[in-house]
Amino acid sequence: TLPQQVKIVEVGPRDGLQNEKESVPAAVKIELVDRLSRAGFANIEAASFVSPKWVPQMATSTEVMAGIARRAGAIYSALTPNMQGFDAALAAKADEVVIFGSASEAFSQKNINCSIAESIARFEGVARAAKEHGLRLRGSISCAFGCPYQGEVSLDAVADVVGRMRELGCDEIDIADTIGVATARKTQAVMLRAAQEFHLDRISGHFHDTYGQALANIYASLEVGVSIFHSSVSGLGGCPYAKGATGNVATEDVLYLMQGLGIDTGIDLDMVVDAGQFISQHLGRKGSSRAGNALAAK
Ligand code: HMG
Ligand code: MG
Repeated sequence: TLPQQVKIVEVGPRDGLQNEKESVPAAVKIELVDRLSRAGFANIEAASFVSPKWVPQMATSTEVMAGIARRAGAIYSALTPNMQGFDAALAAKADEVVIFGSASEAFSQKNINCSIAESIARFEGVARAAKEHGLRLRGSISCAFGCPYQGEVSLDAVADVVGRMRELGCDEIDIADTIGVATARKTQAVMLRAAQEFHLDRISGHFHDTYGQALANIYASLEVGVSIFHSSVSGLGGCPYAKGATGNVATEDVLYLMQGLGIDTGIDLDMVVDAGQFISQHLGRKGSSRAGNALAAK
């Protein structure tokens, strides 16, 4: 039996927009987050406090966090690779900070400029500070299904990082398919292995749709009991350190699937479709959500 309820974490304002070449004004990001808040998301990844030299699009994160209208009880998350990022996230009143590591050595170097072991050591300070200040802590594990630089990533490599993230005190851990290469059975194997190291109900699936497999992988994850998924409105996205990576799975598509399965998300699909239209118009291109485009054309 599938879970009756799932949590959808909307990552469009961060994972979605971080790779846009043209700078998106803070006011547009704020409007996007506000529309998503009104649609009912309990968790929105709204900011990333990383080096603006590495990811210029996220340089407006402080402004965005200050400008959004927060929905009571909702969690607004921010990426924090180090203490400098943590301090900025704390000042911006993030509810949750996200440390992001990798199951692939090669990707760790390209993305955050250090080895996996070094990254865990760096995250210790962030994790401690998050606990001290009563913030939620999430750990994200990139390239859990394959890496653009080293290819194969073993189940043990994923399990090892999951264990380290657990030891750091993470409340939730994301298993991420950064380059969208996973297929259904592989997805189940990785999720089940991760669940040997951490509570299944606090493991999330972060799928990118590069090879068109994201919805199948989400369904496969549901079958083994995963109940938290990340998605991005209108399928926005890509990763600056994963060449050719497309967006996250589109939120509208995921919501359409959940609706059909009778799984409760607490989110208003029509309002998400509108939010997708809003950001697509701003970016000057059609969104990549199939369900979103079909519903918008009705
Ligand atoms: P570094 O160059 O090794 O760090 O970068 P450093 O400590 O030597 O600092 C160098 C400069 O960066 C200094 O400035 C610092 O002040 C500044 P300078 O003195 O040269 O003027 N700096 C910062 N500025 C603002 N905020 C900060 C910060 N830290 C240092 N927090 C670092 C290391 C991690 C900072 C860098 O590699 C970085 O910012 N990388 C960005 C990585 C990133 O954002 N990737 C995309 C997000 S991950 C993702 O999308 C995957 C995910 O979606 C899951 C999935 O799909 O896989 C989560
Ligand atoms: Mg991602």
